[in-house]
Amino acid sequence: NRCFYFDEIPSTNAFILKHAEELISGDICVAEYQSAGRGRRGRVWVSPYGCHLYFSMYWQFPQGMAQAMGLSLVVACSIVSVLEKLGVKDVGVKWPNDIYLDNKKLAGVLIEMSGQADSECNLVIGIGLNMVMGEQHAAQIDQPWSDLSGQARMPDKTALLILLQKQLHQDLSLFQNSGLTPFQERWRAADLFQGKPVKLLMGQDEIHGVCRGVDEQGAIVLETDSGSQSYIGGEISLRR
Ligand code: BTN
Repeated sequence: NRCFYFDEIPSTNAFILKHAEELISGDICVAEYQSAGRGRRGRVWVSPYGCHLYFSMYWQFPQGMAQAMGLSLVVACSIVSVLEKLGVKDVGVKWPNDIYLDNKKLAGVLIEMSGQADSECNLVIGIGLNMVMGEQHAAQIDQPWSDLSGQARMPDKTALLILLQKQLHQDLSLFQNSGLTPFQERWRAADLFQGKPVKLLMGQDEIHGVCRGVDEQGAIVLETDSGSQSYIGGEISLRR
């Protein structure tokens, strides 16, 4: 595989999408600074120079992808596995693919697609992971965050990138061959919301229930007053 390294770029996701034709599964793009980093739901991903890890990986599903939903969970499981191998404790996941450390967001994933899910499908998996948050940047972030700066063994950025690339390659291959089943247990072990009262925001709707994990497609399962139901979208949070 290849790694395209930039000092500065608008967005590593945009780079991969633009060059999808020339790439093979597992190729990555990494940058020290993104001038137009993208987050989920049209948000900006604040990407100050040199502070954090910003990278994107290309992946192609030649037969199309039956389980787009499951992919988010697989990527989250890969990140958790790498962090745990590095000795980072108290890592958790928030459906569908946010990574938390001590209950504050450590990393986010933005998956974008070119092509259709039912034919050849080209994906970019973008990951932003906070390493050392400077005070001047913290103010720009509109949610509780964490970084790796307090870790006893602070991983080196390049080492982290290499481990993530390897783990993602391995897990995406497994997902492509065997679907989500091999990941269910890993997800469950890291799921921060399992068994907790939650609310799911979907547009104007707010659904209250108790989180019962994810189904075989990767949709979130909530136990509500009218029984157990799976949901494929929305923003989940704890109810206090
Ligand atoms: C989120 O909103 O939680 C997802 C954030 C994803 C950010 C990463 S940083 C590398 C890649 N390039 C982008 O423009 N976004 C993703």
